[in-house]
Amino acid sequence: MDYIKDRILTGIQSTGLPHLGNLLSVILPTIDLANNKSLNPVFISIANLHSLTNIKNISFIKKYIYNILATWLACGLNTNKAIIYKQSDIPEVTELAWYLSCFFKYKRLTLVHSFKDKINNNMQSINVGVLTYPMLMAADILLYNAKIIPVGKDQLQHIEITRKVAKNFNRIMGKTFILPTALTNENTMYVTGTDGKKMSKSKNNIINVFISNEILKKQIQNIRTDNKSFQSSKDPNTNIIFSIYKLLASKKSINEIKNKYLNGNYGYFEAKNDLYQCILNRFSNERKLFNTLIKEKLFLDKILNNGAEKAREIAIKNISNIRNILGLK
Ligand code: TRP
Repeated sequence: MDYIKDRILTGIQSTGLPHLGNLLSVILPTIDLANNKSLNPVFISIANLHSLTNIKNISFIKKYIYNILATWLACGLNTNKAIIYKQSDIPEVTELAWYLSCFFKYKRLTLVHSFKDKINNNMQSINVGVLTYPMLMAADILLYNAKIIPVGKDQLQHIEITRKVAKNFNRIMGKTFILPTALTNENTMYVTGTDGKKMSKSKNNIINVFISNEILKKQIQNIRTDNKSFQSSKDPNTNIIFSIYKLLASKKSINEIKNKYLNGNYGYFEAKNDLYQCILNRFSNERKLFNTLIKEKLFLDKILNNGAEKAREIAIKNISNIRNILGLK
């Protein structure tokens, strides 16, 4: 992987406010790549077409797009070094998704974890989009010849499928696509949620950074603990509060808190409060900026339009080549 020269692309569904897990595992590391490491602009697709598969109230998607864009900007993304766009502004992506789906076995798609989880819940209400979701994600990546894909651990299988469908297409039609590689952030690819499982919106165990103080506090209060008394010594290594704290605080504070757990006379109420303060401090500027940006819809629209214009230029060129290869011209 060559962070400097290879095209980097990531995507994020517009299904709500990005949570702490999204921030630490994908958003912040990608901003660092975009602002400081990559020579070329980094592509960020706000995947509103993917969101259509699981949103009951479609009017929310629009609001969520602004939330996501404001999050990236509040966290410091330099828009001169990134192309951030709404997935649906590039209709070529759905065209490519169709082509790709003709080069991939139906049976294999039915075995994808994200699909299987959903059909286990409720087979009757699943839409076709949930099944073909990975084809759209592959199109999102392959349309731009992206090579490095920063993602959370839960997306690794989707990247595998992207490689597989690209390989199938290349084998049958001749070399067309670059094979992408997932980039996960080792320290943060597993951010623990409030119930001790991986933080994920669908599990209802998230901590949102860009939310009111009251709700943030409530989310932190929801963190599961055992019932050890205030006085007793506690093991920081098996503690959910500490496992989140240590991803955010300085080495010095981490050590101090560790000792507090071990020494006792430090209860879970105090520990949760320390985590709350830590999040407020760590993201104080970002939270202020988010609240300003989210009101500036015209400014946000301008950034999305700009991004779409640049992304579309590449998309049009590449889809035209693919149509040629498929003999559609
Ligand atoms: N499926 C991804 C998720 O839920 C979002 C996504 C859409 C994506 N398109 C992408 C991620 C392209 C990486 C590259 O997190």
